[in-house]
Parts: sequence; structure tokens; C-alpha cells
Amino acid sequence: MSSKQGKVSTSKKAQSVAAPVLLHSITQLVTMHMPGWSGPRRGRALSDIGLVEDGAVLVSGGKLISVGTTREMRKDAWLKQHIREVVELDCTGKVVIPGFVDSHTHPVFAKPRLVDFEKRISGATYAEIAEAGGGIRSSLDGVRKESRQQLAERTLSAFREMSAYGTTTVEAKSGYGLNCESELKSLEAIKDAAAKWPGTVAATLLGAHVPPPEHKTDPDGYVDIIIKKMIPEVAKRKLAAYVDVFCEKGAFTPEQSMRILKAAKIHGLEVRAHVCQLTHAELQPLLLFHPASLDHMDFVSDEDVNELAKHDTVATLVPGANYFLATKSYPPARKLIDAGVPVALATDYNPGSSPTSSMPMVLSLACTQMKMSPAEALAAATINGAYAVGLGDRKGSVEPGKDADLAIFQLEDYREIAYWFGANHCVGTMMSGHWAE
Ligand code: NIG
Ligand code: FE
Repeated sequence: MSSKQGKVSTSKKAQSVAAPVLLHSITQLVTMHMPGWSGPRRGRALSDIGLVEDGAVLVSGGKLISVGTTREMRKDAWLKQHIREVVELDCTGKVVIPGFVDSHTHPVFAKPRLVDFEKRISGATYAEIAEAGGGIRSSLDGVRKESRQQLAERTLSAFREMSAYGTTTVEAKSGYGLNCESELKSLEAIKDAAAKWPGTVAATLLGAHVPPPEHKTDPDGYVDIIIKKMIPEVAKRKLAAYVDVFCEKGAFTPEQSMRILKAAKIHGLEVRAHVCQLTHAELQPLLLFHPASLDHMDFVSDEDVNELAKHDTVATLVPGANYFLATKSYPPARKLIDAGVPVALATDYNPGSSPTSSMPMVLSLACTQMKMSPAEALAAATINGAYAVGLGDRKGSVEPGKDADLAIFQLEDYREIAYWFGANHCVGTMMSGHWAE
């Protein structure tokens, strides 16, 4: 059993945690502990999930204190000393995993896009709908009209829905306001929602989602606004940790994307990008900025797969978008993993291409459609998601000293999380020691 009893530091949110908790008799505990490995998991290491049978986890002050087997835990000195205050939870017949890290979501929008949904069912493509003024631009009016408070309420209910499926950390993007005022309002809504949710939120400015209609003939003018106004203001007010760009035909060119990522770095923000979702693009110009992740990757070239394997940039795959848009193929997960690229999985929760808050559904798609093993899918959805949002040292594994972020499933085998698609077997989610409501 490993222990780090002296090194517990509690965050402000976690200080309100009441009694320490002992989860014991866990039928399968997935720790993701991998001695000697640092950084995101790649290649064969992606299957190493640190499985403990009859496991136990001790939580105090919002942190993981000890992790091991139930037998080992009973000998733990800290536990013996504090046994009277500890609340015990028998997890017989349950699987416990590190909470999911959903490293790509767009939760700030006003309404579902049901007209687009029906148009696609009748045969229109995502790109055709976007060209005709639907798509991302059709979410714009709602976000511009709604108040910060209304958007915060919707965002909070999305976070709560996510934690009901076992998600404990979320990367949340703006991106439907598409002017300075509404992008800042969207980030403020994320901040307000994050303050009311016990999970962890990494906010991202996605002002560069698509040029808004008023800049249709002058997209570079909009890029100037992002660079000269949005990014400096977001950095000054610390409203986001990341800047994202949709580098795609009909959105932003590689040159425009580079200008945006460069400005982000100058202002001390980290970067990520949507790339190769609908068409191929070269990754080299984006890799110059050391993005935390490059997301979608459906049309990545073989040369870029090999290049990516040399970097710590995580390839975040979002098969929910492929499912919902009914694409002919899925991102080449096997090729990426076998080449040694660190791969993460995320929902891409958004009203246009992936309206799902369920990480278990994403795991199912990863296994059935991209031929990832259930173990690989779990690692991609936890520890590699954590690296994709720069939180690999705090999140994504069940190890002493890390945040007490756990998801409990009423299942006896971890493979069942991906197997039972469309059902929710998550029966408890702990975020920095707090249970989801
Ligand atoms: O990740 N590709 C760009 N952004 C989203 C879709 C957003 C939308 O259609 O509203 C995505 O799929
Ligand atoms: Fe997205």
C-alpha cells in the first residue's frame, strides 16, 4: 500500500469537507498507478490501469491519503489513529475509478439545435448546414441574448449532468458568443458555474470558433479583435487558462490559427486546437506552440501521427461527434496509440455535433468504433484527459496526494463501464472529497 500522510494540502473548496471517508472492499479499484512512468500514457502503457482487487481508498481533507487493498488499509497508521471520525463505505460489488476528466466540452449555449438535427437526418452535412448559416452561428443569438446568470445556470446543470456519469473535471469552452462582450460573458458564466460545482473546471476561450456573420467578408478583422481585445482581456481578468481555435475550412486558416495561438502565448495562456475534424490540415504550424491537446484528428496524416509521437501534446478524440454526425469513419485511434501518441477521450459536449454528457457512452464508442480496449479507453478518459488539461499531477489517478476525485459504479468488472452502452451505472461521484448532489 502506498501512503503520503504528511503531504496533504487542502484547497479552499475542499476545506469544507466533513469527515474522512474510507471506501473498502472495492471489488475492482482502477488506480492508473504506474510506477516509474511520468507524463501522459502512450503505447502499451495506455493499457496499464493499476487494477487492485478488494481495494480500499482513504480520503481526508479533499485528498487521497492512502490507496491499497482492504487488508493493507486496515493496518494503516493514520486510519488507526482517526478510526472514530472515519465514515466507512462498503464497496462490495462495485468498481471505483479515478473520476473522468472530460477534456473537451462546449457547455455555454442557450438551446439544442433541433433544426440542424432534422436537416442532417434528411441528408444535409454538417459543413453544408454551417455554410447555409446554421451550425455554430445558429447558437450565437441565444448566447448573445441570455444573461450571464442564465448561461451560468445552464452551464451548472451541464456540469451536474456530467458528474452524474462520473466526471469530476471538465474543460469548458466559450465559443458561441463570437464577439468580445459575449465571449467574456460566456467565460464569466463558466466561472460562476464552477464556483457552485465541487468538480474542477479548466476554462478555455474559443472566440475563434467561427467568424461571426458581421465579419463574414472580413474574417481577419475578427482575428484582430480576438488578438487585440479578447485575449488580453481574458488574460488580464484570468477568465481562462487556455485559448482554443477551430482550424478548419470555413472556420480559421492555419495562418489565422497561428496568429491567435501566438497571441495567447504572449499573454501567458496555454493553447489547444480543433484540427483535422472535417478536412486534413498540417499539424506542424500548430505544434510550434506546444498545444496541450489537438482535438478531433479524424483526418490526421501518417507523417503527423509519427511527429506527434515525439511530443507531449495529447490527441483528444471525441467519437460522440462522429456518432452524432454519422460520419463514415472515426478518428484513427489504433494508428495513433500504436505509433506512441498519447490519446485522450472526451465528450465534446455541445449542441451541434455531440450533445452528450456521458463519458461511459464515449468509452463505448471508443471500444466498438475505434477498437480501443476497455483498459485503454479508461486511461484515455482519466489520466490522459488530466494531462490534456495540464492537471496530470493532481487528477486522473487514484494515488496518495492527488485530489479525492472518484467515480463509483454498480458493476463488478471495469470493462462493463464501456460494455453497457446508453445506461448509467455510476452510483456515486466524489469531487475533492465532496459527493455529487
Ligand atoms: O467540436 N468543431 C467545432 N466545434 C464543435 C462543434 C460545435 C457546434 O457544432 O456547435 C465540435 O464538434
Ligand atoms: Fe469541440
